[in-house]
Amino acid sequence: QDFDHKNTCTEWETILPTLPKQKGWMGNHLVQYQGFWFSPSGLKGVMHARDHFKSLPTDILLSTSPKAGTTWFKALLFTIMNRRNYQFSSHPLLTTNPHDLVLFIEAMIDQTPSASPITTDISSSRLLSTHIPYSLLPNSIKTSCCRIVYMCRDPKDALISQWQYMKKLRPKEMPPLLLQEVVELFCDGVSHFGSFWDHALGYHRASQESPKKVLVLTYEAMMMDPTVNIKRLADFIGHPLDPEEESGGVVERMVSLCSFENLSSLEVNKSGVQQFTAQFKVPNSHFFRKGLTGDWKNHLTPAMVESLNKISKERFGGSDLEF
Ligand code: A3P
Repeated sequence: QDFDHKNTCTEWETILPTLPKQKGWMGNHLVQYQGFWFSPSGLKGVMHARDHFKSLPTDILLSTSPKAGTTWFKALLFTIMNRRNYQFSSHPLLTTNPHDLVLFIEAMIDQTPSASPITTDISSSRLLSTHIPYSLLPNSIKTSCCRIVYMCRDPKDALISQWQYMKKLRPKEMPPLLLQEVVELFCDGVSHFGSFWDHALGYHRASQESPKKVLVLTYEAMMMDPTVNIKRLADFIGHPLDPEEESGGVVERMVSLCSFENLSSLEVNKSGVQQFTAQFKVPNSHFFRKGLTGDWKNHLTPAMVESLNKISKERFGGSDLEF
């Protein structure tokens, strides 16, 4: 196995200098691989997943663009899938960050399997996640009967969320990350796992071709009507709610367990740290900022809004992804 992993690393080292490069958001640069932009180490994870990840037909995969609301949907899916295994009063989410319960397949190679005993238990469905674009997913995911939940968000909010997050992670000695600069990069598709629009359209297309395999939901829809959308999620992943659960208030308890207010106030999410890979470490508190829709109105100029809306109209027009 070590030998196979070395082969992937060698391929990555060989192609890296040949790829188109652009200025990144965190001080490093981004590289373009098969139409999408990645940090160099992010690309290594994508290639490792491609070469070594083996999907099981029972897997559930959450896919998102960064800052679309991954943490929230990891919590929701984990809660839906495990609602008969745990009591709400002693639930793992009360003491564990959602990223420790649901691993990214592109980071798994760097994480010890013991990091997540719950998701690696293959006797039941595994819940996994990814930022990998649909076209670059490991083949075994595309060809097995595993199910994919894709979660999208208004690109303007995802952009602001990402900007605020990167500002916190950017080395202090670097010049500040200007909004004008990141809007231009984002509009050109130069963002982690971007372009944002291509990322969403890849999954949207797959869901139109195979609606039983890929479900597309949005941050905004979940905010607006969590009850209906939690039921949709539960049905889609094969864990439908029964009438007693519905009348007993299970949906409401899941909504409140996973709410921004609850998760962001927990000690683990105020003081814990997420070690995604050997090099990439993030305080858990960085995954909880405002948790609102429309915060872009507080940051973007009318000209920036116009540019972003124009692209969304051209790319998403006529799809279910109109923001
Ligand atoms: P904001 O920066 O707009 O507040 P990701 O999990 O993909 O990294 O996305 C992070 C975004 O989701 C942040 O958005 C964060 O505040 C928001 N978020 C995190 N937990 C949430 C929750 N339980 N409910 C709603 N939004 C949440």
